[in-house]
Amino acid sequence: MELDEAETAALLAALELQIAWGADEALEEVPQDRTRARAAPMAAPAVAEVARPAMPSPPPSPARPAAPPAAAFAPAALRAGELAAGADSLEALREALAALNHPLRETAGNLVLADGVPDSGLVLIGEAPGADEDRQGKPFVGVSGRLLDRMLASIGVERARNAYLTNILPWRPPGNRTPTDAEMTVFTPFVLRHLSLVRPRHIVLLGGTAAKALLRRNEGITRLRGRWHSLDVPGLGPVPALATLHPAYLLRQPAAKRDAWTDLRLLRRALDAPPPEAVH
Ligand code: URA
Repeated sequence: MELDEAETAALLAALELQIAWGADEALEEVPQDRTRARAAPMAAPAVAEVARPAMPSPPPSPARPAAPPAAAFAPAALRAGELAAGADSLEALREALAALNHPLRETAGNLVLADGVPDSGLVLIGEAPGADEDRQGKPFVGVSGRLLDRMLASIGVERARNAYLTNILPWRPPGNRTPTDAEMTVFTPFVLRHLSLVRPRHIVLLGGTAAKALLRRNEGITRLRGRWHSLDVPGLGPVPALATLHPAYLLRQPAAKRDAWTDLRLLRRALDAPPPEAVH
């Protein structure tokens, strides 16, 4: 079907809008022809039809599991605590997360749980996987992960030897948008269960999302960074948690690397000494 200039411009504007909203993944195998839908508009379905599709669902595509009905997402927050609490090993935790029907699971490629040495005593917690992490199923493997590796190496910390990395969200949010409060509420019980299982002596909260989700403080990361807080880990007790800047922020604001370096030295000092006094 030939499109005139105005129709082409309208379609491009619609596409730009989708990109601005973060729609950077194709969810269907076959592209939809929106121009035909416009040429022969369908009658608006009654509200009841929208809520409960009359048509049988198509068979699941082999590449991606079929999306669960919208109603299946609603109890996610309620089930999260229960599922997380029942996980008595890292493998069980991974299975519990994989079993959680959550909208992010539908747009992400891989579950991203953790990388590094679980019993190293040091856990670093980021925000959520980005595109590289989503592809590889491992946290911090993209450009900000490489910066993080270099920063940690400067104080003798390496994920393959003496650190363990994870995120608040195990699924990539579409377009790398910031996690919503609702998403943080659903996944925080899993993070706490994760911490109960690996029993760290020190925790590092990378960026505002991790600090907000786990410290339950309203201040931004620039206020919280640079000091030790206390994080109550169920079954383990209070664990010193250092809030610092996220490496992705440092890539955008290189001048802030000076603050990050101050924080890294605090971490090194704590690793070399008995655990510091927690500050509330
Ligand atoms: N940013 C994060 O917070 N986590 C990752 O795993 C990658 C980038």
